Amino acid sequence: MSVDPQDVLVSQSAKPFLKWAGGKQQLLTQFELFFPPTIGRYFEPFVGGGAVFFHLVSSRRLPGPVFLFDKNEELINAYRVVRDRVDELIEALAVHKVSHSKEHYYQTRSLDRQDGRLNDRVVRAARTLYLNKTCYNGLYRVNSKGQFNVPMGSYRNPQILNENVLRDASAALQGADIQVRDFREVIDLAQADDFFYFDPPYDPLSKTASFTGYTANDFGEQDQRDLAGIFKQLTEKGCRCMLSNSSTDFVCDLYAGFRLEKVQARRAVNSDKNGRGDIEEVVVLNY
Ligand SMILES: C[S@@+](CC[C@H](N)C(=O)[O-])C[C@H]1O[C@@H](n2cnc3c(N)ncnc32)[C@H](O)[C@@H]1O
Repeated sequence: MSVDPQDVLVSQSAKPFLKWAGGKQQLLTQFELFFPPTIGRYFEPFVGGGAVFFHLVSSRRLPGPVFLFDKNEELINAYRVVRDRVDELIEALAVHKVSHSKEHYYQTRSLDRQDGRLNDRVVRAARTLYLNKTCYNGLYRVNSKGQFNVPMGSYRNPQILNENVLRDASAALQGADIQVRDFREVIDLAQADDFFYFDPPYDPLSKTASFTGYTANDFGEQDQRDLAGIFKQLTEKGCRCMLSNSSTDFVCDLYAGFRLEKVQARRAVNSDKNGRGDIEEVVVLNY
């Protein structure tokens, strides 16, 4: 089945409800060339902001079961609350919206330093969304104790609550299986013809460019090797896999033998303006 581009345009309703480092929103047009024509079961093991999932679901290309995984517990809790308790989440965010100030930001940020204050899933998700929209650059970074430590950003009018985005995302997530999982676990779930889109933390372009936005900046070369191993095992199982990464020699060597396509991405990985600009990324396909 081929997709009518008009259909894609008119049904773009659901979109990411979080700012997330490495978001793929800007690459969707280039990715259109690479998505498989039909998709059965859909897996996104590094879901992050979920730009690819929301795009595929909005353009009605996910008729089958959907599995969204990530290692970040705060992120997965937020997805589940958006799916299951969106009204309560909207109410809690409305309170953050009217309370927003420097003092409120740092008080909310400190809740993970106080026992029991984040036991309620809705409170926890509202905090994650509020901090995401008001912190510096929408970064997610925690210290060695797992405590969120990004300073407040300087936004004149941060979008703390966008009810339509949350309701559309909630509708899109109905029925999705959303779990905290390490990417290595997907191998046990995979069946022939499943489609996997992998968007791992990128291999750094240089050691100094190494980006510290994720859980504990702990995605190293061995993780990249393990991921390439999973990609090969899934290929042997008859799954269709698409993966994006930076276009380093290391990554291209790991996936030698697969179809490698280049895309141009605009990246702001440093606060320094020299770290911004167009960079080439690679898309790896096993079909
Ligand atoms: C590049 S981001 C994904 C971007 C996303 N596709 C988007 O469009 O916004 C990478 C994600 O991988 C997650 N991650 C890091 N290590 C992981 C692991 N070992 N297993 C699963 N997820 C992991 C991070 O929490 C982060 O959300």
